[in-house]
Amino acid sequence: MTKEISLPVLILHHALPCLLFLLLGVSNAASELEDYQTYIIRMDHSHKPASFLTHESWHRSVLKTLSYPANDEEMMLYSYNHVIHGFSARLTALQLSEIEKSSAHLATYPESFGKLFTTHSPKFLGLKGKSGLLPAASYGEGIIIGIIDTGIWPESDSFNDRGMPPVPERWKGQCENGTAFSPSVCNKKLIGARSFSKGLQAAGINISKEYDYNSTRDFFGHGTHTSSTAAGNHVPGVSHFGYARGTARGVAPRAHVAMYKVLWATDTEKSAASDVLAGMDQAIADGVDVMSLSLGFGQTPFFKDVIAIGSLSAIRKGIVVVCAAGNDGGRQTIYNGAPWITTVGAGTLDRSFHSTITLDNGLTFKGISYFPQSVYIADAPLYYGKDDLNKATCNLGALNPDEVAGKVVICDNTTKIDVYGQMEEVDRVGAHAAIFLTDTSDLYSDDYSIPSLTLPTSSGILIREYVTGRKKPMLKTMRFVLTELGTKPAPQVASFSSRGPDPISPGILKPDILAPGVDVLAAVAPNIPYMEMGNYELVTDYALYSGTSMAAPHVAGVAALLKAVHQDWSPAAIRSAIMTAAYTIDNTGSILKDENTGLLATPLDFGAGHINPSKAMDPGLIYDINFQDYVEFLCGLGYNEKQMKIVLQQSQWNCSQEPTDLNYPSFIAIFTNETVKNFSRVVTYVGEKEASYRAFLDCPMGMKIRAEPSILTFTEKYQKQAFVLSVEIDGNAPGMIYGNLKWIDQHNHTVSSPIVAIKT
Ligand SMILES: *[C@@H]1O[C@H](CO)[C@@H](O)[C@H](O)[C@H]1NC(C)=O
Ligand SMILES: *[C@@H]1O[C@H](CO)[C@@H](O)[C@H](O)[C@H]1NC(C)=O
Ligand SMILES: *[C@@H]1O[C@H](CO)[C@@H](O)[C@H](O)[C@H]1NC(C)=O
Ligand SMILES: *[C@@H]1O[C@H](CO)[C@@H](O)[C@H](O)[C@H]1NC(C)=O
Ligand SMILES: *[C@@H]1O[C@H](CO)[C@@H](O)[C@H](O)[C@H]1NC(C)=O
Ligand SMILES: *[C@@H]1O[C@H](CO)[C@@H](O)[C@H](O)[C@H]1NC(C)=O
Ligand SMILES: *[C@@H]1O[C@H](CO)[C@@H](O)[C@H](O)[C@H]1NC(C)=O
Ligand SMILES: *[C@@H]1O[C@H](CO)[C@@H](O)[C@H](O)[C@H]1NC(C)=O
Repeated sequence: MTKEISLPVLILHHALPCLLFLLLGVSNAASELEDYQTYIIRMDHSHKPASFLTHESWHRSVLKTLSYPANDEEMMLYSYNHVIHGFSARLTALQLSEIEKSSAHLATYPESFGKLFTTHSPKFLGLKGKSGLLPAASYGEGIIIGIIDTGIWPESDSFNDRGMPPVPERWKGQCENGTAFSPSVCNKKLIGARSFSKGLQAAGINISKEYDYNSTRDFFGHGTHTSSTAAGNHVPGVSHFGYARGTARGVAPRAHVAMYKVLWATDTEKSAASDVLAGMDQAIADGVDVMSLSLGFGQTPFFKDVIAIGSLSAIRKGIVVVCAAGNDGGRQTIYNGAPWITTVGAGTLDRSFHSTITLDNGLTFKGISYFPQSVYIADAPLYYGKDDLNKATCNLGALNPDEVAGKVVICDNTTKIDVYGQMEEVDRVGAHAAIFLTDTSDLYSDDYSIPSLTLPTSSGILIREYVTGRKKPMLKTMRFVLTELGTKPAPQVASFSSRGPDPISPGILKPDILAPGVDVLAAVAPNIPYMEMGNYELVTDYALYSGTSMAAPHVAGVAALLKAVHQDWSPAAIRSAIMTAAYTIDNTGSILKDENTGLLATPLDFGAGHINPSKAMDPGLIYDINFQDYVEFLCGLGYNEKQMKIVLQQSQWNCSQEPTDLNYPSFIAIFTNETVKNFSRVVTYVGEKEASYRAFLDCPMGMKIRAEPSILTFTEKYQKQAFVLSVEIDGNAPGMIYGNLKWIDQHNHTVSSPIVAIKT
């Protein structure tokens, strides 16, 4: 069940202040405002005159010395020092052109706006309390996860600091005072809280107190959800209105959380790039170990992508950057695919939510339902508009209240069941409950306005037979709030999860990894109702959300655990461990399936596979990547000097003569007219005992794979060995073809990498 979290209430009400603004007739101010736009300006910091002690004072003086200077206090939004070198400011076209003439100017990005990747658990991850990664990592103790999101609800029980170690001494962050947010709400769990909204406000979008808090307090629950998913403390007995009841616990329950609020509940539900960069800049300065972003901007080359550039700065400082891959579903819809970012797709959990019905003839059916109350319906008459197709399908306006009120109505529409159609209709006519027969339900967890369930049309045949064959068909019982575990098949690639190839750098396989992103239960902000039912607004402290937004913090939590165990590992080493330990077989023994089609999914959908944290702790081998390797990768993209400077944020770099492969833990070959591609890789041994690894190759028809050498022996930890993987396709190969390389040692370490070949 997936859904874009929409904020209809906000949209409706926001029109009001805008209207007032116009009526007050501040027209002069408005026309002046139009001339100003926000730009992110990249400066070459090697040009900073020594007389300026700080970059910020230099940036301010650049603004002050323009021919038509305005007050620099007003023009400047942020001075950036860690994530990029530069600043954001509101400028006229004239002012901008003046700055662009300066030899210190490197690049200009007009303000852009990103969106959240939410569509509307740890047990499943195999993280057990008594053994494995969790205790080995002391539950993430000492690690700080920075979340770039919508803020946090600090009173949520998930952020209590029972059992938490003290705030690390190296921590430089703080908890800002603001509306409904006193610094005293921070504790040993929530150690940092800051908010950034200058960019949005400069774009004329007000942070109004009716729709958001002017502080790090979360208004609509998204940031509370993602941070409690990554690092929430144990909270027993929570549920989504009774569904999924159990103990809520973040992936790294003893890691610290720092929230950087950059997304605001405005009529646009967007974040400004200048604010996101400011949040990332501060997170780097404060000293986070892992950064998680469940948002994205457009798909643009790296030299135009401030998030990619900012992430490279973070990676360079050893910070793991985890990003959601996006919710656009189809091919080539990857966001945040830079090879230094860990890009996360969404998988389903092995959990489903049900209602059961029993008919008078004894037949029992189980269907999907999120109806938020455990009502029990017994001995109710059934209604089915069998003589009128319109009535049978419950199309809007089709039902007659006199015929249906108080009855359990059956709606039979194989093509469309949704909240604005059938659900509204059964509610309108006062039906007691509803049974939807469909294979294509668009109902989400907050759409259940009357007791109802969805049954697949295959089981609908028997129901239709029963109701059309009886004069007075009766429903014997109907029950709700049933949670089933072990649902099969699971995990699947969520229908909305963005898929590769990555349009920006198709030579790197993305997404990297799949993590739970469908109906994830975590803490939310209880200030706004989760849903409405009749005259009631239902509020909850924990709720089910879906999206790659929910998947990314799972991986951030696992990265925190791995970092706690292996403090000296680079971000690339941590990602390599996560990827090569992933699994691609579901709980029925099949390759992971695509929720959309029910067909086998591919590495273009799930990357290396589904995350398997405990195995990632002891991966055997890692494919490490250092900064120079990323430089070489960028050299290979054919960027000009200026573009290189912009991405690398340094004025000098070395490109080797020969193009080199990035030492990535997955392989994607795009063939045009050639038929063989060789990949060079170097693996680093991270085990303790001597080990000998043998290559096991999975070659489908039409593809030949060789690893040379095919045996790698290691005598000590951190020893490196190189190999060449040669991928060959023949004339009969399909357009897209998938293989696999596994290095397996005598201690049963399995280091697995997907191989994708695409013929164009
Ligand atoms: C934003 O808020 C300010 C101060 O409350 C107000 O003067 C202005 O009209 C608002 N602008 C919009 C676009 O709502
Ligand atoms: C904290 O913020 C609130 C709301 O903006 C304000 O009323 C209060 O005076 C601030 N307190 C301090 C110590 O700045
Ligand atoms: C929000 O708070 C900041 C400081 O905490 C203040 O500068 C800003 O004007 C406030 N914005 C609104 C819309 O009240
Ligand atoms: C299903 O409902 C839609 C509108 O909600 C209607 O257009 C369509 O005809 C119905 N399909 C069937 C098979 O009745
Ligand atoms: C480039 O390579 C040369 C020679 O190996 C080295 O001296 C220099 O420091 C390198 N420059 C950068 C920016 O890495
Ligand atoms: C492959 O095609 C490119 C141009 O599309 C051409 O330059 C190159 O020579 C071709 N290579 C081979 C081996 O045919
Ligand atoms: C690819 O590697 C194989 C060895 O695995 C080697 O025989 C072949 O010459 C290489 N081809 C190219 C184009 O480098
Ligand atoms: C490795 O796994 C195989 C099969 O899964 C098993 O038979 C063997 O005992 C294992 N070896 C070690 C050293 O764990």
